[in-house]
Amino acid sequence: MSMKRIMKAFGLFVFFVGGLAAQTRLASTEPASVSAIAIPPASGDVYAGADRCRSCHKAEFTQYSKTKHATLDLHAKESVTGCEMCHGGGKAHADAEEAAHGDEAKETAAAKLIFSFQGNPKKNSERCMQCHQSSRDQKEFGRSTHLQHGVGCNECHATHLVVANTAAAKLRIPQEDFFSVPQVAEENRWLHNSLLKKQQPELCFSCHGNIRAAFALPVHHKVPEGLMKCTDCHETHGNSNRATLRQSGWETCTQCHAEKRGPFVFEHSAVKVEGCTACHTPHGSVNRMLLARREERFLCLSCHVNPFGINVPHSRLSFQERGDCTRCHSVIHGSNFDPNFLH
Ligand code: HEC
Ligand code: HEC
Ligand code: HEC
Ligand code: HEC
Ligand code: HEC
Ligand code: HEC
Ligand code: HEC
Ligand code: HEC
Ligand code: HEC
Ligand code: HEC
Repeated sequence: MSMKRIMKAFGLFVFFVGGLAAQTRLASTEPASVSAIAIPPASGDVYAGADRCRSCHKAEFTQYSKTKHATLDLHAKESVTGCEMCHGGGKAHADAEEAAHGDEAKETAAAKLIFSFQGNPKKNSERCMQCHQSSRDQKEFGRSTHLQHGVGCNECHATHLVVANTAAAKLRIPQEDFFSVPQVAEENRWLHNSLLKKQQPELCFSCHGNIRAAFALPVHHKVPEGLMKCTDCHETHGNSNRATLRQSGWETCTQCHAEKRGPFVFEHSAVKVEGCTACHTPHGSVNRMLLARREERFLCLSCHVNPFGINVPHSRLSFQERGDCTRCHSVIHGSNFDPNFLH
C-alpha cells in the first residue's frame, strides 16, 4: 500500500468518526473511485514486458505513459502491469511480429495473437472491470443499458489516445508510424477529462442523434453551450433509476432547482407523483419554460378534464378561452398557503 493510499484511508476514517457526530453527513461518504487490484500473472512464459511493446508501438507507449494507469503502484511479481494488464500476455505476439520481418500476411496473423478489444463489448469491458468495480460509478456497468446495447468502456474512453495517420497508413510503412500523438490541446483535454475520446456533449451526440436534435430546439438546458453536461443528469455507467438519472425520484432536477423540491403543505401531486416530466421536456422544446405543450392550458386540461367545481370562478371568468391557468394558479409546483396553488 502506498503512502498516498494509506493517507486516503486515514482521511476516510477521520471523516467516518466525524460522521458519527453529524449523522446526516454520513450518507455522502463515497467509496474511493477505484483501487489498484493486483492481476495475478498467468502461468508460463507469456509476458513480453512494456519495453518490448514500446519498440514497435511508440505512439501508444508515449500516450499510455502519461496516464495514471502507468503509475499504478503494483509490484511486477504479484501483478501484471503495463500494456499487458489490459492486453494480456503479449510474448507470442511480439515474437511472431519480430519473426514476420515485415511480411504483411505474417504480421496480420501475428496480430491475432493478442487481445485487441475488437470483439465482444462485454469481454472488452471485463478487462477494465477487473479493477473498476469497486466504485459507485462503475460497479453497475455490467447491467447498464449501454453495455446491453453493445457499448463497452472503450467506446467512450481511450486509454492511450492516438490518431490514425491515414496518409502514412496508405503507404504501408512500419507500425510505429501508423499512429501518432494528437494535438497538444486535445491531449490535455483527454488527460484532464477522464480519458474520454471526445468531450461531452459531442461524445454522446455521436450516437444519440435524436438528443442532439432536441438540444437544438430554441428552449433547452445549456448543454450545447458547455454550461451543463449530460452527466449532470445522467449516470452514464448505469444505475437502476429511470433513464439512468443520477438520483432517484426527481432529485436529479431539484438538486439545481431546489425551490421546487418542497415539502409543501399543499403538494401538487402531478409534481410529486408523475414528476417533472409530466409537464416539462428535459432536453429541449419549442415551448417556453420547456413545457410539454405549446398552450399551457391544454397541458393542465389534459389531466384536469373538468375543473368546474361549484365554488370555482372559472366559467364566469371564461378562463377556458384564453390565457394561462398560472395567471391565477401561480405557484404551480406547490404551496404552503393555498390548496389551489393561488399564492
Ligand atoms: C516486433 C514488433 C512488435 C512488438 C514487439 C509488439 N507488436 Fe503489437 N503489433 C505489431 C504490428 C506490426 C502490428 C500490426 C499488425 C497488422 O495488423 O498489420 C501489431 C498489432 C498490435 C495490436 C493490434 C492487434 C489488431 O488485431 O489490430 C495490439 C493490441 C498490439 N499489437 C499490442 C502489443 C503489445 C501489448 C505488445 C507488447 C506485449 C506488442 N504489441 C508488441 C508489432 C509489434
Ligand atoms: C488500461 C488498458 C490498456 C492499457 C494499459 C494498454 N492498452 Fe492498448 N488498447 C486498449 C484498448 C481499450 C484498445 C482499443 C482501442 C479503442 O477501442 O479505441 C487498445 C488498442 C491498442 C492497439 C490497437 C491500435 C490502437 O492504438 O487503437 C495497440 C497497438 C495497443 N493498444 C498497444 C498498447 C501498448 C503498446 C500498450 C502499453 C504501452 C497498451 N496498449 C496499453 C487498452 C489498453
Ligand atoms: C490493473 C487495474 C486497472 C485496469 C485493468 C484498468 N484500470 Fe483504469 N484505473 C485503475 C486505477 C487504480 C485508477 C486510478 C488511478 C489514480 O487515481 O491514481 C484508474 C483510473 C482510470 C481512469 C481515470 C483516469 C483519470 O485520469 O482520471 C479511467 C477513465 C480509467 N481508469 C479507465 C479504464 C479503462 C477504460 C480500462 C479498460 C480498457 C481500465 N481503466 C483498466 C486501474 C485499472
Ligand atoms: C457511454 C459512455 C461511457 C462508457 C460506456 C463508460 N464511461 Fe466512464 N465515463 C464517461 C463519462 C462521460 C465520464 C465523465 C463523467 C463526468 O465528467 O461527469 C466517465 C468517467 C469515468 C471515470 C472517472 C470518474 C470516476 O468514476 O472515477 C472512470 C474511472 C471511468 N469512467 C471508467 C469507466 C469504465 C471502467 C467503463 C467500463 C466498465 C466506463 N467508464 C464506461 C463515459 C463512459
Ligand atoms: C457508442 C455509442 C454511444 C455513445 C458514445 C453514448 N451512448 Fe448512450 N446509448 C447508446 C445506445 C445504443 C443506447 C441504448 C438504446 C437507446 O436508448 O438509444 C444508449 C442509451 C442511453 C441512455 C438511456 C438509458 C436508459 O436506461 O434508458 C442514456 C440516458 C444515454 N445513453 C446517455 C448517454 C450519454 C450521457 C452519453 C455521453 C456521455 C452517451 N449516452 C454516449 C449508445 C451510445
Ligand atoms: C436536465 C437534465 C438532463 C440533461 C442535461 C440531459 N438529460 Fe437525457 N434525460 C433526462 C430525463 C429526465 C430523461 C427521462 C425522460 C422521460 O423519462 O420522460 C432523459 C432521457 C434520456 C434518454 C432516453 C430517452 C430518450 O429520450 O431517448 C437518453 C438517450 C438521454 N436522455 C440522453 C441524453 C444526452 C445524450 C444528454 C446530453 C447531450 C442528455 N440526455 C442530457 C434529463 C436530462
Ligand atoms: C445542473 C443543474 C440543473 C439540473 C440538474 C437541472 N436543471 Fe433545469 N435549469 C438549470 C439552469 C441553470 C436553468 C436556466 C438557464 C438556462 O436557460 O439553461 C434551467 C432551466 C430550467 C427550466 C426553465 C427553462 C426556461 O426557459 O426558463 C425548466 C422548466 C427546467 N430547468 C427544468 C428542469 C428539469 C425538469 C430537470 C430535471 C430533469 C432539470 N431542470 C435539471 C439547471 C439545471
Ligand atoms: C403540473 C405541471 C408541472 C410539473 C409536474 C412541474 N412543473 Fe415546472 N412549471 C410548470 C409550469 C406551468 C411552469 C410555467 C410557470 C409560469 O408560467 O410562470 C413551470 C415552470 C418551471 C420552471 C421555470 C420557472 C420557475 O418557476 O423557476 C422551472 C425551473 C421548473 N418549472 C422546474 C420544475 C421541476 C424541477 C419540476 C419537478 C420537480 C417541475 N417543474 C414540475 C408546470 C409543472
Ligand atoms: C399529469 C397530470 C396533471 C397535470 C398536467 C396537472 N395537474 Fe393539477 N393536479 C393533478 C392531480 C392528480 C391533482 C390532485 C387532485 C386531487 O387530489 O383530487 C392536482 C391538483 C391540482 C389543483 C388543486 C385542487 C385539487 O383539485 O386538488 C390545482 C389548482 C391544479 N391541480 C391545477 C393545475 C394546473 C393549473 C395545471 C397546469 C399548469 C395542472 N394542474 C396540471 C394532476 C395534474
Ligand atoms: C382567473 C383566475 C383563474 C384562472 C385563469 C384559472 N383558475 Fe382554477 N381556480 C381559480 C380559483 C380562485 C379557484 C379556487 C376556488 C375555491 O376557492 O374553491 C380555482 C380552482 C381550481 C381547481 C380546483 C377545483 C376544481 O374544480 O377541481 C382546479 C383543478 C383548477 N382551478 C384548475 C384550473 C385550470 C386547469 C385552469 C386553466 C385551464 C384554471 N384553473 C384557470 C382561479 C382560476
